[in-house]
Amino acid sequence: MNAVIVGLGYVGLPLANAASLAGIDVVGLDLNTRTVDGLNAGHSHIDDLDDAAISALLATGFRATSDPVVIADADIVVICVPTPLDEDGRPNLAAVIGATTTIAEHLVTGTTVVLESTTYPGTTEEILQPLLEANGLVCGTDFFLAFSPERIDPGNEIYTITNTPKVVGGVTPESTAKAAEFYEQFVSEVVRASGPREAEMAKLLENTYRHVNIALVNEMAQFSFSLGIDIWEVVRLAKTKPFGFQSFSPSAGVGGHCIPIDPNYLAYKVRAELDRPFRFVELAEEINQSMPTFVSRRLQDMLNDRYKAIRGSKVLLLGVTYKANISDRRESPAVPLATRLLSMGCELQYHDPSVHGWKVGDVDVSEVSDLAAACGAADAIVIVQAHAPYLQNPEAITGSGTPVLDATGKFRGDSVERI
Ligand SMILES: NC(=O)c1ccc[n+]([C@@H]2O[C@H](COP(=O)([O-])OP(=O)(O)OC[C@H]3O[C@@H](n4cnc5c(N)ncnc54)[C@H](O)[C@@H]3O)[C@@H](O)[C@H]2O)c1
Repeated sequence: MNAVIVGLGYVGLPLANAASLAGIDVVGLDLNTRTVDGLNAGHSHIDDLDDAAISALLATGFRATSDPVVIADADIVVICVPTPLDEDGRPNLAAVIGATTTIAEHLVTGTTVVLESTTYPGTTEEILQPLLEANGLVCGTDFFLAFSPERIDPGNEIYTITNTPKVVGGVTPESTAKAAEFYEQFVSEVVRASGPREAEMAKLLENTYRHVNIALVNEMAQFSFSLGIDIWEVVRLAKTKPFGFQSFSPSAGVGGHCIPIDPNYLAYKVRAELDRPFRFVELAEEINQSMPTFVSRRLQDMLNDRYKAIRGSKVLLLGVTYKANISDRRESPAVPLATRLLSMGCELQYHDPSVHGWKVGDVDVSEVSDLAAACGAADAIVIVQAHAPYLQNPEAITGSGTPVLDATGKFRGDSVERI
């Protein structure tokens, strides 16, 4: 079987890897020539695969290209391009439309096209199908079309592509069958949906569920502090219930390419077609977006208790990625937090094992390399992400005597205050 994976990022590259290792002939297609050249030279640009994994991938026969002619040789083409929001917070499907238009130009009879990018229900049938049929081929007869939501969790060492069930919903039953046949070669369980809309909506339910539950615990964190109750202990107690409860942790806010963005795709569809708000999403967004402000206020109070103003204080942020143990900074809550702290006049520094060079707006935030020395020299420390090296040697942070505001709930000590 020949497969072309369009978009070689956090989603497409692990997919290309898993399919190649299963014996499928895979070509990766990406507009970014730097990514293509880097991969062909054995260099990885994502956390979940290192350079050795890329060398092993190349040894299977995989190659990357920017030339779409490869589509004509494919049995299956899988689209894994970004689906961001535009400046007004509306879905921006430009990459999906661009990739699909290119595929349509090279599409031959018998090919299966699968969309993995997260999007609003209806995209596969309303946007992709007409674009792919523009040159006269008919979906379900000449080519096949399905949606299969991507469920990758960067940095998760337990659940990877191969052991996370894959949902597949085709425009026609044969489309579902063809897409399922592809995934079944390297995914332990393929779950068939009755159509693409249900598969598209399932992904948005998953992400909205996380968004809403994170907001719930974040809102509780805000008022628990005022009530003098330790929210972290509350979560620890609640999660001893073996049924009906899944625990979520407070944080400095949500980040990444999924949780802060995807639910808006659904909210947009509900508003556009039904002229009504998706109230849970709007509320969750409001609460999660208020967390950096909450953290900055807590920091202000912490310094105030020590007769210090935030203005002029040396504040050290630890971990500026959107979650622990990855280098992805997209939508990281560290950015709104840093923006606020800078506007309040503090002298900001950061440390992150995998981020070297960090700009917030126009400001180049200064990076520290000697963690223990920087902790000792700071007026306050804010732990935004509990990266593994911090947990391996917490003393370097908490033993410095400098007050620590911990947004991760993972650190203990006399100088530590958890949000
Ligand atoms: N990253 C995640 O953890 C994650 C998880 C779940 C779902 N998703 C979804 O998966 C999709 C892809 O996300 P990602 O994180 O892999 O994005 P990414 O930015 O890491 O990678 C996308 C790649 O697509 C390429 N590209 C863009 N337009 C193209 C085109 N027209 N033709 C060919 N290549 C093109 C880019 O150059 C880039 O290399 C998004 O819809 C996202 O919401 C991502």
